[in-house]
Amino acid sequence: MAALNSSAAVAVVGAGAMGAGIAQVAAQAGHPVWLFDLKPGAAQQAIEAMRETFAKLAAKGRMSADAASAAGARVQVAQGLADFAHAALVVEAIVERLDVKRSLFADLEALVGDDCVLATNTSSISVTAIAAGLRRPGRVLGMHFFNPAPLMALVEVVSGLATDPALAQAIHDTALSWGKSPVHTKSTPGFIVNRVARPYYGEGLRLLGEQAGDAATIDAVMREAGGFRMGPFELMDLIGHDVNYAVSRSVFDAYYGDPRFAPSLIQLELVNAGHLGRKSGRGFYDYAAGAVKPQPATEAAATLAVPISVSTASAFGAALAARLQSAGVACERRDAGPLLQAGTARVEITDGRSATQRGADAAHGGHADLVVVDLVLDAANAKRIAIAASERCSATALTAATAALQAAGYAVTRFADVPGLAVMRTVAMLANEAADAVYQGVCDAAAADIAMCKGVNYPRGPLSWADAIGLPALLTVLDNLARSYGEPRYRASPLLRRLVAAGRGFHAAN
Ligand SMILES: NC(=O)c1ccc[n+]([C@@H]2O[C@H](COP(=O)([O-])OP(=O)(O)OC[C@H]3O[C@@H](n4cnc5c(N)ncnc54)[C@H](O)[C@@H]3O)[C@@H](O)[C@H]2O)c1
Repeated sequence: MAALNSSAAVAVVGAGAMGAGIAQVAAQAGHPVWLFDLKPGAAQQAIEAMRETFAKLAAKGRMSADAASAAGARVQVAQGLADFAHAALVVEAIVERLDVKRSLFADLEALVGDDCVLATNTSSISVTAIAAGLRRPGRVLGMHFFNPAPLMALVEVVSGLATDPALAQAIHDTALSWGKSPVHTKSTPGFIVNRVARPYYGEGLRLLGEQAGDAATIDAVMREAGGFRMGPFELMDLIGHDVNYAVSRSVFDAYYGDPRFAPSLIQLELVNAGHLGRKSGRGFYDYAAGAVKPQPATEAAATLAVPISVSTASAFGAALAARLQSAGVACERRDAGPLLQAGTARVEITDGRSATQRGADAAHGGHADLVVVDLVLDAANAKRIAIAASERCSATALTAATAALQAAGYAVTRFADVPGLAVMRTVAMLANEAADAVYQGVCDAAAADIAMCKGVNYPRGPLSWADAIGLPALLTVLDNLARSYGEPRYRASPLLRRLVAAGRGFHAAN
């Protein structure tokens, strides 16, 4: 089965935020588009707004004036579902209720031709359940766009139990021809993105609950060390705590209370208080006019008064040594040993234990003056780095470690001594969730990475990031987190364990 020809008619039901965006994408790709909404005037209004958008794009030179008016003319209001009789594809983007969607699909099936594909844009309802009871459930699938649909490249092509695989491939190829980045996934709670992204919020909220640092500090570390576009708290404030909490609850319930997805009481209290984020003027941050944005905690400048040495065995160490060198700071280069030694201070990348636990580990040459650093996305260019010190670390050693990292040009944030710090712990859990999705056949490794980069703008796919960290190191982090907390939440994916035993990476495995 081939991708839809651009002359094939596309029908969209629901002219809200998503339906209007999907109609715009299809019209821009050259399809004649019919838009229907139960609310009188809603489709017309959406089409007028779309034509204004096309005119603006033409004014900015992003499309020609001719293309803009042609795209605008390709979209029409449908007076009723009967106008869909000749559609090759119907995309449903109505209210998120199974009973309403089921009844719409039953009505559609009675009207459209046998070859018409029926797609749903649902975020959280089983595609299998929507298709159940239809005469031809094989032609039903999910086409899950992200908001705003014209700008976000990801489309999750969701197959239910009955979906015809050839048809899923044809719709995948159609989305590709529309300039999108489609991925195949199975109808499972949260599909890829809304499942794999849970730890981004969940670990942030737990770090806050454990008083690792305040929201502004954790956000700054996730952005400036982790390379994420927004920290978890500013992102949840943008999404809205009511919406984000509801998605967390729904995924948690759908997986029968798996502790990996446990919602946060901190977020529930924000919802209880009506502090829903930007839209209510207050969430983790205050959005009132004149409110002062809190600054992240950053260590005061410390003076480097001891000799330092760096192990260049890891990419992190090599980047650190290069940064010190370009700052004109004398530093001995080693090819083994601790990442950084500054006087008596030993600095190591976190292995998922607190610095205190690790420093007290006599079996591995326990060391009182131990400081752990968090993961950074790009050690050569990161602006900030987070550290935690063992409770037994002397003030002199902590100053020496801080001064050495500052000399390399990093703003240094000191967290409380929580296991795994922020970026490492979050990335380990994102990769672990993606690994389980692959293990369970929900998607392949490439799809998991594309989904997280194109659907939620992650700076790197979690599985390719895991490969870069090294799967044995990642597994150690997860096992240490599991031991530190004694919670099944941090249990490592069997696929991760198997790949470590095989000496392979995620991307070599697919
Ligand atoms: N908003 C998002 O970020 C987002 C992202 C991905 C998927 N989704 C999913 O897309 C769907 C639509 O979401 P939205 O945010 O655009 O909602 P919305 O409330 O903005 O729009 C829904 C539209 O559907 C119309 N409608 C309701 N029932 C109808 C029916 N039976 N027939 C025809 N029209 C009907 C409403 O009048 C409304 O205009 C939902 O399934 C949602 O879960 C939303």
